Amino acid sequence: MKEQLESIQTEALEKIASAAELRELQDIKVAYLGKKGSLTTVLRGMGKLSKEERPVVGEIANQVREAITEALNQKTGKLEQEAMDKQLESEAIDVTLPGRPVNVGGPHLLTSILQEIEDLFIGMGFEVREGPEVETDYFNFEALNLPKNHPARDMQDTFYLTNELLLRTHTSPVQARTMQEYGGNRAVKMICPGKVYRRDTDDATHSHQFTQVEGLYVDKDVRMSDLKGVLDKFAKKMFGEDREIRLRPSFFPFTEPSVEMDISCKVCGGDGCSVCKQSGWIEILGGGMVHPKVLEMAGYDPKVYSGFAFGMGPERIAMLKYGISDIRQFYTNDIRFLKQFHHA
Ligand code: PHE
Repeated sequence: MKEQLESIQTEALEKIASAAELRELQDIKVAYLGKKGSLTTVLRGMGKLSKEERPVVGEIANQVREAITEALNQKTGKLEQEAMDKQLESEAIDVTLPGRPVNVGGPHLLTSILQEIEDLFIGMGFEVREGPEVETDYFNFEALNLPKNHPARDMQDTFYLTNELLLRTHTSPVQARTMQEYGGNRAVKMICPGKVYRRDTDDATHSHQFTQVEGLYVDKDVRMSDLKGVLDKFAKKMFGEDREIRLRPSFFPFTEPSVEMDISCKVCGGDGCSVCKQSGWIEILGGGMVHPKVLEMAGYDPKVYSGFAFGMGPERIAMLKYGISDIRQFYTNDIRFLKQFHHA
């Protein structure tokens, strides 16, 4: 029996030594030390031994069990360590590798221009307001002195949603909305930036959707000279102190008199070039004195109150400021184009 035990030990230790995986060790443990394992089987036969032999064999059996258990533990530790080393090696991070550059975003040129325009007018005491892009026929046209079937409605090709609902063709409805809200007895001094829509075929200078910034100042005794002063300040701050403005007579149903404003051409300094079509001047916005009917419809007494209004296109302003020749650049999102303005 003693030899049997010794050969079990030798055999087990050899197997443990040659095991290459933790799973094998588990199998070895079961095969020798388990309930039906060889060591256990031998020990069951101890009953047949004499009284004197029993403690001797028992001691040997214990030694064998310890030797096998010890060898198993050691080998398990070794294999676990090896597995850990392997994992650490394969997952090792080279901290000296240069990092992957992350593209940092920035505001869109149009966003920056709108911000700039807002800042300039906030600096002159205007508040910034918003209005709905889905507008009623009433606010987009009627409240602006454009009754149904008025021929001037054709100036603005409209996307109609229903007979009464449309996509606003300009930000001017916010004039009427604001005056109505203010109630007819206090001054209004606001700008309204926002998206507008027209049924245009997109090309280098037309877009079915673009932005406008509306301006409105209503108070007792507001004059045309106030309009001119505010716009002159705006043009000089936006394009440079050396720029001149001029107002030309024009027509809008909601202003009387109406004007269009030009700024002197930066490229030729006023002598005439291809950018200003040889005129020395570039048109940048429309405006005028708020029509008495518009004041009246919004609840302001035109005998007491007067006002000026204007509307400009931020895309056009950005195009002039940065020499951009195609309005589609604003929404085709060519990153090479957009990136140029991130630090502007
Ligand atoms: N709403 C006009 C347009 O879109 C611009 C404008 C605004 C003109 C305010 C006069 C007064 O063309």
